Amino acid sequence: MTAPKTARKPTTSAKQHPSGDNRFKILEATMKRHQYQPDALIEVLHKAQELFGYLSNDLLLMIAHSLRLPPSRVYGVATFYHFFSLAPQGQHSCAICLGTACYVKGAAALLASVEHEAGIKAGDTTADNRLSLMTARCLGACGIAPAVVIDGEVAGNVSTEQLVAQIREMLRES
Ligand code: FES
Repeated sequence: MTAPKTARKPTTSAKQHPSGDNRFKILEATMKRHQYQPDALIEVLHKAQELFGYLSNDLLLMIAHSLRLPPSRVYGVATFYHFFSLAPQGQHSCAICLGTACYVKGAAALLASVEHEAGIKAGDTTADNRLSLMTARCLGACGIAPAVVIDGEVAGNVSTEQLVAQIREMLRES
């Protein structure tokens, strides 16, 4: 006789994480809102990165388990998109959207200017750990293209001068 099938319950409920870190609770609530559907993976990874700054091994495994996906799939997606980072980020972060709407409004020139100013390429962090530079496909803010996310805040209609000045300021901070 086979055991009766029971509805799957996620092992990590929306209750407090043993570490007391409230960010796990928020991440859990995000997965719950998507009913732990595997196709919510990208949204969940975005939320995890927003909350934790980068996607650690433990986080990726937890997400894989909760969404019932093979870890290889979760790692594959996390490494495919430049927006996601698997290593700790610099003190500041700048993600430049290279989606179509932003691209036609000069996002490539924005990226080139920031790369030049910071002396790093997209996906890298400055040697002093002050700035991590990333790119994104579409931030869902096409109406204010070109859009960038600086330290988690979306900014729109960004000009090269404005962005470079802000980056320069970040790099100079002591
Ligand atoms: S293409 Fe950049 S926000 Fe949509």
